[in-house]
Amino acid sequence: MQKKIDKRIGILTAGGDCPGINAAIRGVAKTAILEYGMTVIGISNGYTGLINKEYFEIKESNISNILTLGGTILGTSREKPFKKDILQNEINKPKLIKEHYEQAKFDCLVCIGGNGTMLTASLLSEAGLNIIGIPKTIDNDVWGTDVTFGFDSAVNIATESIDRLHTTANSHKRIMIIEVMGHHAGWIALYSGVAGGGDIILLPEIPYDEKIICGCLENRATAKKAYSIVVVAEGIEKPKKIKAGDYIARVISDNLDYETRVTVLGYLQRGGTPSPTDRILATRYGTHAVDLIAEDRYSEMVCVINNDITSIKLSEVQDKTRLVPVNFPLIRKARRIGTCFGDVIP
Ligand code: F6P
Repeated sequence: MQKKIDKRIGILTAGGDCPGINAAIRGVAKTAILEYGMTVIGISNGYTGLINKEYFEIKESNISNILTLGGTILGTSREKPFKKDILQNEINKPKLIKEHYEQAKFDCLVCIGGNGTMLTASLLSEAGLNIIGIPKTIDNDVWGTDVTFGFDSAVNIATESIDRLHTTANSHKRIMIIEVMGHHAGWIALYSGVAGGGDIILLPEIPYDEKIICGCLENRATAKKAYSIVVVAEGIEKPKKIKAGDYIARVISDNLDYETRVTVLGYLQRGGTPSPTDRILATRYGTHAVDLIAEDRYSEMVCVINNDITSIKLSEVQDKTRLVPVNFPLIRKARRIGTCFGDVIP
């Protein structure tokens, strides 16, 4: 142990689970306990655990064998304590959280999560709590960092799935549509689409024209291409009450006489073992978060800029979403190899 720093860290995981969260918990807890002799308290089920006072001390023994484990050992929830609705009006959740934070004698909270979690973290820090954010999500859409852990694992799963669709597409001469997650951002669709050789990739950030999609499929058929793979981000523009993949299948069947099938990857891309890249990123984030705490630096989110671990003010991150820029280099490269994004090439 370098120097003992007598601090009590609360740690929670909120929002959708993703691969790598446990690696980040381990990174925080091991650094805090082994290097600084700090106490680490796990808070169950996201911000709900702070409201209900569900805590337990994380000892080194709790975090053995969790590096490769998917999900989160702390549990998670989508509780948004600052959101007002009729039922919540009775209880002032932010006030309760502040009281419980003080009663538990926390010196700071480490909040691991995506955009919603970072917004709450930022508001709690404005309310006077010491907060450090660690960004995670398969969607890769947290503002202020080049990458979140969970994304690489999700891209690996989505890519492997697209690889598997190629064989059925080819055998049956079909159009295979695969819908991937990403919320309002197209990062997973773009990366898995390019890695999996998608012929058409539809992103929420690039408005598509149905005629261009159908034209691209016709051109491929004319060029004697036996099949086509269409990768669709769940967040594309579409009518309500129909899923993105189903909507694109309807567009195709309304206009063309090609056999089409839809696969919705869903939660498969969010579960299971983190990739080595995500384990490493989560570990780097976790150790850096504790270094900030050791220096009494709060109200910050750890981030990666040009592969360097650093941090950014939570107030700069809050309420923003990192979408795919329409001129993103990978989009430009994909266009050059003939990938259709459903638009007229700019
Ligand atoms: O943010 C991760 C994510 O998996 C998104 O890609 C997706 O839109 C959403 O969560 C699904 O949320 P839920 O777990 O609430 O169904």
